[in-house]
Amino acid sequence: MTIAVITIDGPSASGKGTVAARVARLLGFAYLDSGALYRLTALHAKRSSVSWNDEEAVAALARALPAEFRDDAVFLAGEFVEAEIRSEEIGMGASAIAALPAVRAALLERQRAYRQAPGLVTDGRDMGSVVFPDATLKVFLTAGADVRADRRYKQLISKGDSANLPRILQDIHERDARDAARTVAPLRQEPDARLLDTSDMTVEQAVESVLAWYREASASGH
Ligand code: CDP
Ligand code: CDP
Repeated sequence: MTIAVITIDGPSASGKGTVAARVARLLGFAYLDSGALYRLTALHAKRSSVSWNDEEAVAALARALPAEFRDDAVFLAGEFVEAEIRSEEIGMGASAIAALPAVRAALLERQRAYRQAPGLVTDGRDMGSVVFPDATLKVFLTAGADVRADRRYKQLISKGDSANLPRILQDIHERDARDAARTVAPLRQEPDARLLDTSDMTVEQAVESVLAWYREASASGH
């Protein structure tokens, strides 16, 4: 029997990670934040003085990425780097290195290794299209750019970080454009992914929708 996978892809700050982590917890599945791997690679390159444009050098770092997820927290070479990888600067770096085919190839098998019984919930940009094309359920989770900027702003403020709403909105537009325009694994809704527009939804409502779709997909024997 194949191991269940739920993929949740979509643009920045749509709520993918929050929804994916909750669905995973409710089902007792593992959770993979694939964006964190790209963010960790960007941070690793910055710390190693490797340019985000140097495809081969960044791919070499990605292949031997000393990353670890422990109790929902992220470590690079044993150091807790959760706050650092969530900055907009590293988000931009992640988006830049994610456009490099050799870097994506370097992270592919590592992502697939997270598929373990009883199941996996994962979020990113290409989890349904490239990494787990045979997923049990594929969701494309989105929300309007203004709503997403507002969500990111409130998320940063609630953590005590400084945040500038117009700047966040600008970054979101920039990152959307870059993620959608790249030639490898561009951000887009695949024909077999279900669309979940959460612009007017709470997290709970979004989680309920995913769970209902998952029950439906499992019952139909996928
Ligand atoms: O949280 P947010 O959606 O802003 O970003 P993220 O999911 O942490 O991903 C950071 C960057 O990594 C994105 O802008 C994408 O360019 C890239 N990424 C990707 O290309 N493929 C994935 N599966 C996940 C992230
Ligand atoms: O992973 P991604 O970048 O797509 O977004 P996130 O970091 O999971 O979510 C951004 C913020 O939006 C979090 O603070 C969520 O609590 C909030 N939010 C949400 O995820 N879904 C809603 N329907 C409403 C708010």
